[in-house]
Amino acid sequence: MANAYDQAHSLSLSDPASFWGKAAEDIHWVKRWDKVLDESNPPFYRWFVGGELNTCYNAVDRHVDAGHGDRLAIIYDSPVTGTKRQITYAELKQLVASFAGVLADQGVTKGDRVIVYMPMVPEALVAMLACARLGAVHSVVFGGFAANELATRINDAKPTVVVAASCGVEPSRVVAYKPLLDEAIRVATHKPARCVILQREQLRCDMVEGRDVDWAEAVANARPHDCVPVLATDPLYILYTSGTTGQPKGVVRDNGGHAVALKWTMKAIYNVEPGEVYWAASDVGWVVGHSYICYGPLLHGCTTVVFEGKPVGTPDAGTFWRIISEYNIPILFTAPTAFRAIKKEDPNAEFLAKYDMSHFRTLYLAGERADPNTITWARNNLKVPVIDHWWQTETGWAIAANCMGLHEFPVKLGSPSKAVPGWDVQALGENKEQMPPGQIGALVCKLPLPPGTLPTLWNADERFRNAYMDEYPGYYKTGDAGFVDEDGYVYVMTRTDDIINVAGHRLSTGAMEEVLANHPDVAECAVIGVHDDMKGQMPLGFMVLKAGVAKPKEEVVKEAVKMVRDTIGPVAAFKQALVVPRLPKTRSGKILRGTMQKIADHQDYKMPATIDDPDILPEIEEALQEIGLAR
Ligand code: COA
Ligand code: AMP
Repeated sequence: MANAYDQAHSLSLSDPASFWGKAAEDIHWVKRWDKVLDESNPPFYRWFVGGELNTCYNAVDRHVDAGHGDRLAIIYDSPVTGTKRQITYAELKQLVASFAGVLADQGVTKGDRVIVYMPMVPEALVAMLACARLGAVHSVVFGGFAANELATRINDAKPTVVVAASCGVEPSRVVAYKPLLDEAIRVATHKPARCVILQREQLRCDMVEGRDVDWAEAVANARPHDCVPVLATDPLYILYTSGTTGQPKGVVRDNGGHAVALKWTMKAIYNVEPGEVYWAASDVGWVVGHSYICYGPLLHGCTTVVFEGKPVGTPDAGTFWRIISEYNIPILFTAPTAFRAIKKEDPNAEFLAKYDMSHFRTLYLAGERADPNTITWARNNLKVPVIDHWWQTETGWAIAANCMGLHEFPVKLGSPSKAVPGWDVQALGENKEQMPPGQIGALVCKLPLPPGTLPTLWNADERFRNAYMDEYPGYYKTGDAGFVDEDGYVYVMTRTDDIINVAGHRLSTGAMEEVLANHPDVAECAVIGVHDDMKGQMPLGFMVLKAGVAKPKEEVVKEAVKMVRDTIGPVAAFKQALVVPRLPKTRSGKILRGTMQKIADHQDYKMPATIDDPDILPEIEEALQEIGLAR
């Protein structure tokens, strides 16, 4: 007899409409859908066509109506500000309804966009849910991005309103958000009509007369707003993610498919029950934060945790264990880099021994390749299953995982286990042929993708096709390379484009190159991701200076590092660059970034057959050795 996973996976592929139609019964609909899956216009698939619902109603009001108003919805724990706060579902409903009233007072209506630029405070979730309540489309921008990145998103999303906080709090400094917002609006071509600002006591900010509205004052005067029904296919949010250029991709998420899929994953993948506490230690600015700090746990009636701090240093490497023990948390989801940081500080897990972890069930990791050392260390010390799972901003939830609520398979180190129901993952070769088990190819997913995945890119249908759909007709191109083994385990090895993964954050080296190329002394440049023991990868720049530049190299490097930080933001973690006489290229002029990366990471490399001048590689090696890289 097939296990529950095999049954679910096979039905989800043979009859997706029946599989997801059943899952959709778990969601409250204002109007039931006419059709589960509309396949009439590939590759633009639509889920639950004709259905109407409100995502905020499903995430908040529904639980209050069901008599769970006293259940905790949000636990806020902020070691960086020394604050703790608990919010019940009834209180959350009131906060969200009032803030929806504020947004409505500022002119926000169904379909309007609202940019949310907030640190990890409960108000970030309140703002997101208030948008959902009105049928408005939120676009959350991570606080570690600089003004220019924020401006790019403002120009693309064209928000009616921006919601921001006066500051964020990093362990070593208070980050003033408001000047970044003011600068972004100054340089943006689109001007939002209003900004609603949450004044935080760590750093209050100046307000722009006639444009800025104080959060607290506005809420005090607002009338609560009810949930506005939207079509299942209407957008819930846009989340920008790194593309191959400086122009980020606006990943669109719909309302209906998203609610159905996320609710389903809470039991099937995470094996968590309503009323339990679910903690994703990420940031609302990333997709993990959207799906598993905000929507997933709340749709499922769980308590979610808003953690404003770091795994180490706030105040020590025991913070995660303190929180898990204090709030009786069975599930933690974070990036491997957080565990590498803890392991570095506390290799013998001495902090762990201080806390009662007896109720802790499972650790989930995602966001980057989980290295076997990290998994083994976590498993040996926590003594619970450690589940790696693979997903992307585009997919919104896991493509491959060990679905703990369906069937627990043995873990194979280095693999995020099997394709989740809904996903047909294949590795294709250069001629688009299916690779035999164990052989590396481009990882692709057969269309249609399951609900909750990106229906398109914001105002960019053509880019959606080019980026994901055109190269392998009938498949979604993940941009990752890897293989599927004889047992159906997926292995994700590397990106096939210029995206790198720094501390679980997705960054584009192309975007950094665009910044370096703007330095007046730089003739040409390249950025690669080099191995880093803690953050997984770190960006490293190479610059060739224009003839006649007399400035010391160190000065150019310092300026370049500052330019990237100022333009993209501290999150780019761009700290190192080298001035080199020449860059290695193919005869057709393509920079050999892959070879440079292999040299930097001490990997064996073959001299590329197409290299123009092989003598350049030793020059690169020498420059890398000067900063302690390469052999
Ligand atoms: N607002 C402003 N600045 C921010 C920020 C925010 N919300 N988040 C990060 N930054 C800054 C940091 O202060 C740092 O600045 P610095 O160069 O002046 O030190 C810079 O951006 C780089 O941040 P990061 O790469 O995260 O490094 P870190 O040393 O601050 O923290 C980790 C490293 C591993 C502890 C942290 O990244 C982490 O906890 N990651 C795991 C969880 C996670 O984020 N997952 C995401 C996907 S699941
Ligand atoms: P993001 O869109 O920021 O979630 O980043 C998605 C990318 O992170 C994927 O395309 C992978 O390259 C990488 N990634 C995420 N999860 C994993 C994982 N479990 N194993 C390997 N790579 C991963």
